Amino acid sequence: MEDKKTFYITTPIYYPSAKLHIGNTYTTVAADAVARFKRLTGYDVMFLTGSDEHGQKIQRIAEEKGVSEKAYVDEIVDTIKHLWEIMNISYDKYIRTTDSYHIESVKKIFNKLYEKGDIYKGSYEGWYCTPCESFWTETQLVDGKCPDCGRPVETAKEEAYFFKMSKYADKLIEYIETHPDFIQPESRKNEMINNFLKPGLQDLCVSRTSFNWGIPVEFDKGHVVYVWMDALSNYISALGYENSEENLMGKYWPCDVHLVGKDIIRFHTIYWPIMLMALDLPLPKQVFGHGWLLVDGGKMSKSKGNVVDPEILVKEFGADAVRYYLLHEIPFGSDGVFTNEKFINKTNSDLANDLGNLVSRTVAMVQKYFDSVIPAPVCKDVLDNELIDLALKTPKEVEKAIDEYKLPEALDNIWNLIKRANKYIDETMPWALAKEEDKKERLGTVLYNLSETIRFISVLLAPFLPETSEKINIKLNVQCASWCSLASFDGTKAGTKVEKGENLFPRIDVEKKLEELEKIREEQSKKAEKLNAPKMRPIKPEITIDDFDKLDLRLVKVLECEPVKKANKLLKFKVDLGGEVKQVISGIAKFYKPEELVGKYVIFVANLKPVKLRGELSEGMILSAAKEDDSELFVTTINGELPAGSEVR
Ligand code: ME8
Ligand code: MG
Repeated sequence: MEDKKTFYITTPIYYPSAKLHIGNTYTTVAADAVARFKRLTGYDVMFLTGSDEHGQKIQRIAEEKGVSEKAYVDEIVDTIKHLWEIMNISYDKYIRTTDSYHIESVKKIFNKLYEKGDIYKGSYEGWYCTPCESFWTETQLVDGKCPDCGRPVETAKEEAYFFKMSKYADKLIEYIETHPDFIQPESRKNEMINNFLKPGLQDLCVSRTSFNWGIPVEFDKGHVVYVWMDALSNYISALGYENSEENLMGKYWPCDVHLVGKDIIRFHTIYWPIMLMALDLPLPKQVFGHGWLLVDGGKMSKSKGNVVDPEILVKEFGADAVRYYLLHEIPFGSDGVFTNEKFINKTNSDLANDLGNLVSRTVAMVQKYFDSVIPAPVCKDVLDNELIDLALKTPKEVEKAIDEYKLPEALDNIWNLIKRANKYIDETMPWALAKEEDKKERLGTVLYNLSETIRFISVLLAPFLPETSEKINIKLNVQCASWCSLASFDGTKAGTKVEKGENLFPRIDVEKKLEELEKIREEQSKKAEKLNAPKMRPIKPEITIDDFDKLDLRLVKVLECEPVKKANKLLKFKVDLGGEVKQVISGIAKFYKPEELVGKYVIFVANLKPVKLRGELSEGMILSAAKEDDSELFVTTINGELPAGSEVR
């Protein structure tokens, strides 16, 4: 027997740093639809998803919560798996980067590249964006901020291992140029070549010593493997590469497609292929970068409070309504928009009206006119041809669209058939045929054609809306739901008994539901606010006015300010204390550029015992107000005209 064709599809592995929102859900729903479609069309599918659990960000969150990193990720991973369950995600394997077999692979990969001379030891000085887990060079920053997310970066210097990316750059450019399908959509390919590869690749820093929640470098204690190297390896460790799991590399590698969001295309089309080249492994056949789901034109983010919770939507409207919206709303290669209103309107028009009505009208007519038994198609008419031809043509159209990852187009094709069938009801007017005794056979044929078209629709919808397809099959008692059965228009057996069952998609009262959703959102954000509200530090024990009087606070004018060498948190100030110049070292470099405070009048503790900080004399202290977690800080400045040296009381 010939082996089945295989198809290996992956989603990114998610950071368990927060609950997933509706945007994150997209990649996995899209991958699920494709995986289900491939299974339907005869492939042996490997659909991989999972979570990316190491790194500084996770370590910080766990520390803040006062729990172990593993306990923290375990809890979030449970919520992710639960979400996939209620969304009907049919993954074949869920990988966690904390799984022992994955750790085993990553250690071996690191060793292998080191022994090969592609990884070497050096030291790193640059900028680090903690939320993105990315290092940047000065020139890569945009307005001094992370070029990916726009958040502030921190300086960082550490001993580190580097991966000789530059060695493979030319080979990668050639590969990309000779494999036009490798990066899709096309526009992303040009971006990668022109913005990243052509200007020259720098060697990638692939180990860290500043935190320890990661996979240790076996031969150098204190180093952990850079999260992206750890994370990307999941695509092969899941197949048993260099570990003790069953080895499926021969069966599934190279991967057919890595489905990823546009923000991480760079990692998948530059870092990852170069890692594979260094390991002498073939490159994935395709990396497909999809656009984003935006909320009111902006990116979904916790801080903006516009996060849409997929669980609530599933609970209120069912998984298929959510899946339908996601799959239909993000066009090939560009962004889509989510609003509750659009979502509800789409559910009403496409699912309740077009699809729901077609099925319920047809079933009701078979019940009413033929005692619930599907009649035989014995009285054909040319009027039927258009519907039948379209039904027979649609599977190929859908397959073509899916092969190009044009999922909205695949759904549009199915909806054309649904709409055509509704039109067929209007054209044939079964209720009028029913009134004439001699039209019984014609009426039977019309209802057969409708039932068979619905069977086509149900098979075609199965990858996208699995629950709905299942429900339709029960209503029409569909016996044959294979892909091959769509080659001819006769899979429905006359004599089959239909069943009314529940409504597929009850019509939603838009105004009422929007209000309900708004209430739920408000409650949720109130809860979140309470949880996130910083606790004020308790007030210190009481002092007397005499205690206070010991402090000598003065107004001083900042004359000069410069960074302290090799101490990236410190600034060195020269201040004018009424004719006398004092030097102060202050740990506020994260919040002010040196020149920003020059000329300003600030409050100074003038009688503090001098100390040396990093070899520099500090003769006092500049007062400032700061957030509890030190994320924000403002120096107290004085507006108004007073001479330097004035008392502050
Ligand atoms: O990036 N619309 O994980 P992640 C569509 N751990 N997609 C969105 C989205 C939105 N609004 N917001 C996020 C990581 N995504 C890494 C991956 S892979 C070896 C490591 C997508 O949890 C995003 O583009 O930050 C990405 O594809 C996925 O959610 C996971 O993001
Ligand atoms: Mg991300």
